[in-house]
Amino acid sequence: MYLDFWTIILDFNNNNFRVLDQKLLPFKEVYIQLNNKDDVYRVIKDMNVRGAPLIGIVALVGIYIELINKSVKDFEDILKLMEYLQNSRATAVNIFNYFSELKGILKNNEFDEYVQIVKNFIVKIVLNEKEKNEKIAKNGLSLIKSIFDNKDKLRILTHCNTGSLATIGLGTALGIIKYIKNYYDIFVWVDETRPYLQGSRLTALELEREGINFSIISDNAAAFLMSNNMVDLVIVGADRVALNGDVANKIGTLNLALLCYHFKIPFIVALPESSIDKNLQSLSSFKVENRDPKEILTIKCNFKDCYITKDYYSVYNPSFDITPSKYVNYIVTDFEVKVLNKVK
Ligand code: MRU
Repeated sequence: MYLDFWTIILDFNNNNFRVLDQKLLPFKEVYIQLNNKDDVYRVIKDMNVRGAPLIGIVALVGIYIELINKSVKDFEDILKLMEYLQNSRATAVNIFNYFSELKGILKNNEFDEYVQIVKNFIVKIVLNEKEKNEKIAKNGLSLIKSIFDNKDKLRILTHCNTGSLATIGLGTALGIIKYIKNYYDIFVWVDETRPYLQGSRLTALELEREGINFSIISDNAAAFLMSNNMVDLVIVGADRVALNGDVANKIGTLNLALLCYHFKIPFIVALPESSIDKNLQSLSSFKVENRDPKEILTIKCNFKDCYITKDYYSVYNPSFDITPSKYVNYIVTDFEVKVLNKVK
């Protein structure tokens, strides 16, 4: 079995597993070889790969690699390995959901079948995620048609990167944007998404490849644009959604939701089922990931970290925020379009 995506190459025939180093984009396409659990932990933690669905799949590959490396000997070892890998990035729920499903399967089987079972599981998840993205895109189109039935031009604002670089396939929020280009004349405002710049580096690259017109904006420009009637809708992804519709997503998402609420602009969240946390009713007390101060203190120039201020200044770097469901108008999944709050 050989699965080749832009972001990940899974060559099960030769046990060769590689991920695209997203830190070098949009300038260079270099793949990183994964040989053991520490490689997998590191590429997720350091954000060489990122995006909730994709990191879930890469974590699964970590389990497979250690099985073929014969470093795990029984179900207990697998549990320890899962514990280790899921601590690489704590907010995105996909790793936890995939691991929990896999645990359920492994515990009812013999250890000598694990390699085959895990391989089949990864292939199933990868193909399902790809298909789910297509369904999200179609559901997104029907929602957008129902909101904007008499418009042919749409100005969409998006945050972070939710495309092929964050998923397998088309993407979630960005997948909808790519899909509706066949039905609307679209223009995309791309939030640069400080500090890691998923917008200006990754979303811009995907839009360029799709031939979709866009402009990058600084994250603090959204209010100005909206107050000047320059945004028709906002679509974002999610790293974890609770049963009540609260959304954990890249820091800055809540700002956009509050602005949309004020300016009466539809705020849409798109995600696969695997990003729903079925164990949490709400995210009101959910603790989000705090990241390295260096991400705020430095910026990449010529592939090196350059300090933009003094290296000893205090930094607070929460990587995600929680948008209460009250501010979410629509949630689009591969199953359905949920109307949480109609725009008044
Ligand atoms: O920190 P990242 O780049 O992994 O965060 C990604 C986001 O916040 C995305 O908006 C979200 O994961 C959805 S990815 C389909």
